Amino acid sequence: MAAGKIRFLRRGVVQEHHLADPLLTVLDYLRLEQRHKGTKEGCNEGDCGACTVAIGKLRHGQVVYEPANACIMLMAHIHGCELVTVDDLAAGGELHPVQKAMVAQHASQCGYCTPGFVMSLFVLYHGREQPERQAVVDQVAGNLCRCTGYKPIIAAAQEACSGDRADLWSEAGAEIAAELSKLNDGEDVFCGAAEHFAAIPAKAETLLDLAARHPDATLVAGATDVGLWINKQLRPLAKLVFTGRVSELHAISDRVATVSLGSAVTYAEAESALASIAPDIGEVVRRIGSKQVRSTGTIGGNIANGSPIGDMPPMLIALGARIVMRKQGEQRDLLLEDYFVDYGKQDRKPGEVLWRIDIPKLKTNERFFAHKLTKRFDQDISAVLAAFRFVMSGRVIASATIAFGGMAATPRRARQTEEALKGLKLDAPELWEEVADNLVKDFIPISDMRASAAYRMDCARALLLKALHELVGERPAALRVLAPAGKEAWT
Ligand SMILES: Cc1cc2nc3c(=O)[nH]c(=O)nc-3n(C[C@H](O)[C@H](O)[C@H](O)COP(=O)(O)OP(=O)(O)OC[C@H]3O[C@@H](n4cnc5c(N)ncnc54)[C@H](O)[C@@H]3O)c2cc1C
Ligand code: FES
Ligand code: FES
Repeated sequence: MAAGKIRFLRRGVVQEHHLADPLLTVLDYLRLEQRHKGTKEGCNEGDCGACTVAIGKLRHGQVVYEPANACIMLMAHIHGCELVTVDDLAAGGELHPVQKAMVAQHASQCGYCTPGFVMSLFVLYHGREQPERQAVVDQVAGNLCRCTGYKPIIAAAQEACSGDRADLWSEAGAEIAAELSKLNDGEDVFCGAAEHFAAIPAKAETLLDLAARHPDATLVAGATDVGLWINKQLRPLAKLVFTGRVSELHAISDRVATVSLGSAVTYAEAESALASIAPDIGEVVRRIGSKQVRSTGTIGGNIANGSPIGDMPPMLIALGARIVMRKQGEQRDLLLEDYFVDYGKQDRKPGEVLWRIDIPKLKTNERFFAHKLTKRFDQDISAVLAAFRFVMSGRVIASATIAFGGMAATPRRARQTEEALKGLKLDAPELWEEVADNLVKDFIPISDMRASAAYRMDCARALLLKALHELVGERPAALRVLAPAGKEAWT
């Protein structure tokens, strides 16, 4: 195992960093160690986007840029990547085209958010397509501006992306790809000592060996949860084992009846495979966090953290997903719903690693609906997430698998309601309300800052009725909500 240093590319030069502190974030490295203060700190928890940087990665021989929140990204994450910050963009006294467009469109006032917007737009600038307005809005949903208003920022994005999009990075694409290829040499990296380390294995067996020898270590995938433990809860995590460089854990396999995802597959990587199972899953994924969160956060992390309000587990449970857990030489697979034992308690043995998620595709007689209910459309945590899979026999529900997030201490199925739905005729809507009443037997939700128990129960009920209306091809007027321009007027 290579010792001591992480290596990454910045400003065309390979940087070697002796990682004395495994918890060092990219933001603290930039601002406190390098004194490069263009990248700003706002919330320090992944919400505001002021700290956005671009991370260059090699995919199929090409460099792709993704936005990341430097405040919750650890230095170990950027081993083998290119780091681009707002301080790197201007060259030879010339601003980058994205910066020029921000100036031309008067898209900055106090300027605190501006470096983050510039970096999100830098990523857009390096995308393949000419972005429509909606694509720009999605791109900056994780960047907050309190002064300027988004109109000039969106105009700047469209102006910058309307030309031939040539900059230092597009000109040097081949050299950057060659450097990244050399950095990704398949070697495991270990920084620190036996009791205090960041391990960044590339080999699957090294990851399993580390997890078995250090069952007290924290496994880190994208750190969009772990980063908050470090910054906000000040947890003194001493041993970190990163999963993101093991290629097996990034595998996506799309077979006839199943989609399988390695546990370190990010939302951005999984989005199209998941949307191909059912469009509603794609729509929920599009609303998880922001582009920054979806580029780094993983489906495996969303499951492993065991949160009652994670968005993926209810949808995966409703689909009947199974997970594979591995521990040196041992492997077991279980239904995802059985993984969630109680609040904060999951069926994970010491030294086990969540390896893969197997998601059955829908059969021809199955229909699936999922809805995320939040106070804001973008970048908000669910008050309730509802997922429904109906097995149909003509116009009769033969069986249903329903799972909710936000309704109990874990993501959980509504078994009594499922039972009541069996045999329900779509042509007898007068019975639907009575069936939906069964939800009170399934759940006793809590009240918290996101929603009261009564509100959660009302919403769960309404979402079930909405799913039944969708099943018959109607959309109930009572559930109509205002949606941003360009989006469907339904959630
Ligand atoms: C601004 C912001 C917005 C967010 N919005 C949403 C949202 O809309 N919906 C939502 O559901 N979540 C949201 N989250 C939470 C978070 O992004 C997700 O839970 C994400 O999927 C976590 O994945 P990760 O890779 O970052 O996990 P990490 O933070 O790396 O890890 C999370 C947990 O999983 C464990 N773990 C990771 N990999 C493995 C493995 N292979 N085996 C065993 N254990 C493992 C870790 O030890 C840790 O306990 C948001 C977070 C932020 C910061
Ligand atoms: S400082 Fe707010 S997202 Fe990083
Ligand atoms: S210009 Fe002030 S926060 Fe955006």
